[in-house]
Amino acid sequence: MLLIKNIGVLQTPAGSFAHRGPQQGENQKLHNAAVLVEDGSIRAITSDGALPEGAGRAETVLDAAGRLATPGLIDCHTHMVFGGYRQGEIPLKLQGAGYLDILRAGGGILDTVGKTRAATEEELFEKSMGFLGEMLSLGVTSVESKSGYGLDRENELKQLRVNKRLQEAHKMEVVSTFLGAHAIPPEYADRAEAYIDMLCTEVLPVVVEEKLAGFCDVFCETGVFDVPQSRKMLQEAQKLGLRVRIHADEIDEIGGAALAGELGAVSAEHLIATGERGMDAMAKAGVIADLLPGTSFYLGKTFAPAREMIARGIPVAIASDFNPGSCPSLNLQLAMCMGYLKYRMTPEEVLTAVTVNAACSLGLEARLGTLEEGKQADLVLWNAPDMEMLVYRFGSNLAGTVIKNGEVVKA
Ligand code: NIG
Ligand code: FE
Repeated sequence: MLLIKNIGVLQTPAGSFAHRGPQQGENQKLHNAAVLVEDGSIRAITSDGALPEGAGRAETVLDAAGRLATPGLIDCHTHMVFGGYRQGEIPLKLQGAGYLDILRAGGGILDTVGKTRAATEEELFEKSMGFLGEMLSLGVTSVESKSGYGLDRENELKQLRVNKRLQEAHKMEVVSTFLGAHAIPPEYADRAEAYIDMLCTEVLPVVVEEKLAGFCDVFCETGVFDVPQSRKMLQEAQKLGLRVRIHADEIDEIGGAALAGELGAVSAEHLIATGERGMDAMAKAGVIADLLPGTSFYLGKTFAPAREMIARGIPVAIASDFNPGSCPSLNLQLAMCMGYLKYRMTPEEVLTAVTVNAACSLGLEARLGTLEEGKQADLVLWNAPDMEMLVYRFGSNLAGTVIKNGEVVKA
């Protein structure tokens, strides 16, 4: 057993459901708290200086020294398995080339596709293991990982196999998403429909058969996949038992958020350009908005209308979107700061966005996302007295002690 005592404030959302509207800002705050952990799970939580029953039998005692404790952070949108990097694009961007201009010219995602195809499974695995270590040291204890840089049968499966190996090899929870429809590969230039058909008949069945992903995603965007093509891909995935999510309205509002509502997607992601119709559909269907402020920053775009979404009863999650193009940062603490300053969410709303709502977006909510008796012991002791400090200290890593599944993985 592990006893963590002398926690200044233990702050957490409560319950295993997506928090919307006023619930988004409801956190429990226990002062002078203690947590008793047994076999990887939270056995008891106490406050006001009291110690849980059985605390005396704990083999390990950790003194939090008055620090803030929260659930481990959950990054519910990343593209973390990729070959190479794309630092060469920055001068083009600074000269005025847009994200879609670079993609149309064969760069952007397609540049990373070339580098990912050229990399071996082993190389991708080793590189991603490094990223997972970096995330864990930042207080992130669960992460989503999308494919989408293979864009053919062999290389999409290669990326998804890396996800599976990461989940087995690393302490971090890795949730795998099949994003074969991330761009139109050169072999299918101007034949998006034929590419979707190929994915549906030749790749998707293997993904399901070999349990390589629990989710399917599509990049629904101008010049990439339109709404009918996205619908087709996602409906096929649903027929085979996968849950679906959508890259929607990142650059143009072409109907991705509305499609998320229509299909009952778990989440719609980006939503920078989403308007009334999309938000209505999402609110009605209970679709979670996975917002990615690092991408707005890096692409020089506006920030998604988070306040309006919360007012309309859409549950909001915040993620890094870590990828080599539109957001080469995996620092979820940085995204939280942007959630505070740019989305104007409160520190409580931000915490909900990177814990329980992110857990719901990945289907992990029964086990993860809050600090409550019976849940898995994933928690962080921050070098901060409160959430206000955590979302304010822009750019520093304030994660002190990180506990994953009851084990201290960063002291
Ligand atoms: O979420 N928009 C599509 N996919 C990623 C970017 C991928 C890339 O540029 O390599 C995103 O921003
Ligand atoms: Fe993305």
